[in-house]
Formats: sequence, structure tokens, C-alpha cells
Amino acid sequence: MKTISLSDYQIYLGNIRTTLPPLLQAYAGHTIFILVDTHTALHCLPAVWECIPDNTPRHTISIPAGEQHKNIDTCATIWSALLRHEADRHTLLINLGGGVIGDMGGFCAATYKRGIDFIQIPTTLLAQVDASVGGKLGIDFGGIKNSIGAFRNPRAVCIDTDFLHTLDPRERLSGWAEVLKHALIADAGMWTKLLQDELPIDEVVYRSLQIKQGIVEADPYEKGIRKALNFGHTVGHAIEALLLDTPQPLRHGEAIAVGMIAEAYLSVQYAGLDALALEDLTKNILRYYALPKIATSHFDALIALMYNDKKNTRKDINFTLLKALGHAETDYHCSEKAIADSLSYYNQCLSKT
Ligand SMILES: NC(=O)c1ccc[n+]([C@@H]2O[C@H](COP(=O)([O-])OP(=O)(O)OC[C@H]3O[C@@H](n4cnc5c(N)ncnc54)[C@H](O)[C@@H]3O)[C@@H](O)[C@H]2O)c1
Repeated sequence: MKTISLSDYQIYLGNIRTTLPPLLQAYAGHTIFILVDTHTALHCLPAVWECIPDNTPRHTISIPAGEQHKNIDTCATIWSALLRHEADRHTLLINLGGGVIGDMGGFCAATYKRGIDFIQIPTTLLAQVDASVGGKLGIDFGGIKNSIGAFRNPRAVCIDTDFLHTLDPRERLSGWAEVLKHALIADAGMWTKLLQDELPIDEVVYRSLQIKQGIVEADPYEKGIRKALNFGHTVGHAIEALLLDTPQPLRHGEAIAVGMIAEAYLSVQYAGLDALALEDLTKNILRYYALPKIATSHFDALIALMYNDKKNTRKDINFTLLKALGHAETDYHCSEKAIADSLSYYNQCLSKT
């Protein structure tokens, strides 16, 4: 088992049957609630169930899977279940699932009776390497992703990469984009090893978490260096939003993959990234993902979406760019022409594959 220590909680990386039982001892005699979605109820719940002592009262709260359920109505279902089963301030909520379960379950725990303990058990690669660090909780509201939420840390996070075996390959690749991003912003050596498929998955998750931990702890409330984690996300979020209600929406990580290519192009123009490094990055990202072309007629709408992103002002679009592979710098502002060129560059590269 490996551990990562954060300011007031730990991440345990290893078999859930080893990491979870000792944490549950603190809740002996109290009811344990487990929040699952339709898929994690099937694939992940049995292993967690085994970890709870026989005499411990427990309730499962099951919600439908998917981002469309990360909303206030589902929160009401969760809060109602907690109330109905008389959850009190000593109750523990275990959030067993991907980023949707972690964000929403954490938010419900943070607000129920002014806050009960929760343990995160992330079961997608995205949630393991990204959502498990940083204390960001929340739901979508008013048509805007994560517009209601809070920062609050869990009691602990237990990561077991065995859960990833049942994950849809497209979901796994979605998380892989965040793994690639962590390497690109902070660890050139890891980037090389990832491309050579040299690292076992536990190592990949562990190193990825270390990178995110280092950045989040230096800047918990996203005032400065934490923006490095936004590499690929300015363009990526806009593309994700643009395609959301189309017949072919992109997974978060797929949109970030497009965003990383476009923003690496901008990195050459603004931050001094070497043209060969851009080529390396583009070629290798396209190796993993089957991505769509972005019609030129959508460029203006994409740029408008970038201005509307909560991280930007009406005047400027903020970018994190790469000075080199493994080295990010924050707070660049790029012209609309350069952004459009970066999307054209992405399209041209797709045509060559
Ligand atoms: N808090 C943060 O810092 C943070 C960071 C990144 C993303 N997020 C949030 O995370 C969400 C996306 O997370 P996600 O990609 O994990 O999506 P998700 O939670 O919707 O999970 C994706 C799909 O995989 C299924 N699934 C989960 N674990 C499984 C398993 N082990 N086997 C089989 N199927 C499984 C889920 O049921 C779902 O259908 C978004 O809402 C995003 O805003 C939060």
C-alpha cells in the first residue's frame, strides 16, 4: 500500500480490503451509508460491502449513472435518504464511483446537518487521478457545470486500481488525458515513460497524484500556480460545451486531448515551446484518441465560450501554456486569431493521421 499525505487527510493506494477496514473502525456503532450509481452498484459495491463489519448498520443510496444526474434533484434524493434513515453527525458517507458520485456525494455530506464525514472511493481513472485531490465538491445548476459547490476535504480517499477493470475503455481513455496532462505540465520523464507504456497502472496513478498534490497544496484556492492544471482546459472546456447537446458529445478527457493540442500550438507562439516538442505531443495524443474535426464555422462560437468560462474575464481568455514538455506557465492571453489558428492546426494534424 502507498499513501499520499495531504493537509488534513490521506490518500491510500492499494487493495480496498486492506485500506478501508482500518478507517471504518472510527465509526464503530454508527450507521454507514454508501452512495453508488447504477454501474458502481454492480461492479464495485460487493468489494466495499465485504469491508464493513457484519454488525455495522449500513444503507446503500443508489442513483442513476451519468453527469445529467449531478443536480439538485439528485441531492434532494440523497439528503432525503440520509434523513429517512436518521443519519446523524456521526454518520459516515462513502462515495463509491466516478467524479459525479464523488463531487455530488461530497457536496451532500458537506451540507447535511452542516457536515458529516465522507470517504471517497473513486472508481474511474479520471476520479482517481484528478477529482480525488483538491477538495472541490459540487453539482451542475442552471445549465452550468459545477456552478454550485464547496471546498471541503474528505476523511480519506481509498484508491484501488482493480476497480478500473470494469471501466468502459472510452472512460479509461478519458482519465488518461488528465494523466498525460500532469506529465506535460510537471514531469517530462513521466511523459516519456507513459508513451513507452513502461509504468504499471498503480505507478501511473501514484505519480499523477503526487503532481496534483504538489500543485494543489501550493495554491489550495486557485489564485496562482494551481492554474497550471488548466492546461488543455480553456479550449477543451469550450469544445466539451459546444458538443454537449449534439449526437456525438465528447468525454471530458477527449475534449481535453483536443485542448492540449491546440494549447501546445499556442505554447509555441507565446511561451517558447519548441516546434519539435509540439510535433511529439500532437502525434502521441492523436495515437490514443479518435477525435472529430472542429468545423471552421464553429470557431467563433468556441471563442465566445472561452470568454464565458468562469476563469476568464470579458476582455481576456486566460491560458496555461507549456514552455517545454514538463514545464507549464500560467496567465497567458492569446489573440482570437491565434486561437483560431490553433484549432486549424489541430484540424490539419487530424487530416494527416
Ligand atoms: N472535484 C474535482 O476536482 C473534479 C476533477 C475532475 C472532474 N470532476 C468531475 O467528475 C465528473 C466526471 O467524472 P467521471 O469521468 O468519473 O464520470 P462519471 O462519474 O460519470 O463516471 C463515468 C461512467 O463510468 C461509470 N463507472 C464508474 N466507475 C466504474 C467502474 N469501476 N466500472 C464500470 N463503470 C464505472 C459510471 O457509472 C459512469 O457511467 C464531472 O462531473 C467532473 O465535473 C471533478
